[in-house]
Amino acid sequence: MIWVIGANGMLGSELCRQLKNNTIPFVASDKEVDITNSASIETFIREKESSSYLTSSREAHHNSKISWIVNCAGTSSISFAEANTLEAEKLNILGPQNLCHIARYNNIKLIHISSDYVFDGTSTIPYTEESLKNPLTTYGKTKSLGEDEIIKGMTQYFILRTSLLYGYDHSNYIYKVADLIKNNQTILTNPSIIINPTSAQDLAEIIITLIEKTDRNNISFNAKDIIPFGIYNFTDNGQCSMQELTEKIYSLLKKYKHLPGQSQLKIIENITNNNLQPAYTSLSNEKISKELKLKIPSWEKSLEKFIKSKSFTI
Ligand SMILES: NC(=O)c1ccc[n+]([C@@H]2O[C@H](COP(=O)([O-])OP(=O)(O)OC[C@H]3O[C@@H](n4cnc5c(N)ncnc54)[C@H](OP(=O)(O)O)[C@@H]3O)[C@@H](O)[C@H]2O)c1
Repeated sequence: MIWVIGANGMLGSELCRQLKNNTIPFVASDKEVDITNSASIETFIREKESSSYLTSSREAHHNSKISWIVNCAGTSSISFAEANTLEAEKLNILGPQNLCHIARYNNIKLIHISSDYVFDGTSTIPYTEESLKNPLTTYGKTKSLGEDEIIKGMTQYFILRTSLLYGYDHSNYIYKVADLIKNNQTILTNPSIIINPTSAQDLAEIIITLIEKTDRNNISFNAKDIIPFGIYNFTDNGQCSMQELTEKIYSLLKKYKHLPGQSQLKIIENITNNNLQPAYTSLSNEKISKELKLKIPSWEKSLEKFIKSKSFTI
């Protein structure tokens, strides 16, 4: 059984939807099980496990034991983290530390989501899992320290570093741009900031694939395919500047008729960086695509799928 934490957030909602569609057993929680409070996490596990113990056969109880935690909780707002350092530290460092202790004690494997902001953005080539971390912001520093807690505290974990996520369930850059264009407003974009836009749908699929390929209880488990635990980058393939992304969003919104006829893209190039966004955070996907033997979709293809979908409304 999989426990999705932060289940009402952008990635968490997408993951729950996919687990449900694939009839994979899971339980979900959000703020009501506060990851910064270890007693609250322990109580949740005890309650879930004791209720299945009372109501299920021995075999069903075994299958309903929590064997994976996927931690989708965490603050991803850079400005919130700058203004609320203590809160960001609790959520991004203490939270993973608590989950790690409880996971280890209960023999649960952990998937934790981290960020491209653990890097300083001075590279000119995509960061690999071995690249040296040097976060610049409170958000980046807390995400980096959160990773360190897991690495030193347990062995059965996947840390997935990702970049500029978008999904259907939350405000994100794609919706923000769409709103600004629709309301005829000007968009400030920085052509020198390079990122990998990533669909939450693609990341959720990868999480499920990792679990399926690692879970020895899975009937299709094949030891030859075992994926080593550790840190992996996962983003959609290819990189672009914030300006290229904005232009692509506009062209797709027009293509799929989400905009009134007279809508125009009004961009102002803004090359001043407030130092909250590293200049270059492209991540290399080589390790994960090699381990999972997967062809990862390009960011353009995934963005088109997102904007074309009936679930996309502005
Ligand atoms: N979004 C991005 O562009 C991006 C990029 C790289 C990495 N990431 C990482 O990916 C992960 C998922 O991001 P996301 O954008 O899906 O985040 P999100 O939409 O903000 O979702 C996080 C969820 O966790 C909940 N939560 C907050 N505090 C909690 C607590 N103490 N205990 C339990 N749940 C709590 C939040 O509730 P409230 O909303 O009520 O606070 C929210 O429902 C995060 O770790 C983030 O750092 C995100």
